[in-house]
Amino acid sequence: MKNIVILISGGGSNMAAIVRAAEQQDWAGRHGIRIAAVLSNRADAGGLQFARERGIPTQVLDHKAYPSREAFDTALAEAVQAHDPALVVLAGFMRILTPAFVERFAGRLLNIHPSLLPAFTGLNTHQRAIDAGCKVAGCTVHEVTAELDVGPILEQAVVPVLPCDTAATLAARVLEQEHVIYPRAILAHLRDGAGGEKALCTSAS
Ligand code: GRF
Repeated sequence: MKNIVILISGGGSNMAAIVRAAEQQDWAGRHGIRIAAVLSNRADAGGLQFARERGIPTQVLDHKAYPSREAFDTALAEAVQAHDPALVVLAGFMRILTPAFVERFAGRLLNIHPSLLPAFTGLNTHQRAIDAGCKVAGCTVHEVTAELDVGPILEQAVVPVLPCDTAATLAARVLEQEHVIYPRAILAHLRDGAGGEKALCTSAS
């Protein structure tokens, strides 16, 4: 079995979309892939209840209980490693990870960011896209590297920015697409590996 460990901080709608896709598409039976655990840095993360109801092991590591970012990340890395992960999925995990954590899980650490990277790294992506007068916005699944919101892009989805949009309405439109591309990118990455897309080009030419 290839184990996925998902890290969340909040509502966990991306995590839920991934769990639902795994169930509906029978990732376990067809691909030997399962969601092994959902970890959160916040005990009140709404997504934890959803995971528990699905019988997925959950664990909370409160970052405020650790003396430093390094100490928290060391504990987090141990908790993740306990599940022998083939893939670690950041799904609305609102902590910046230390280089040591990123290095440890290099090549098997994915994130979804609510903008069309490399535009709008960081926070408040939707308001910034509106303020910049963008006509389109979207989301990006990417591999995590030491630098924030940078790293090889695996998949993107584009949505229109409408004249009447607020950050909230745009965020909702983008989130719908996050739920489509994140499960798809995860499955492709685990099934075909990092070079999967390029292999398709070679075989087609
Ligand atoms: C998503 O927009 C994600 O891209 C961003 O935080 C939000 C998390 O939503 N990093 P959820 O917790 O998956 O519902």
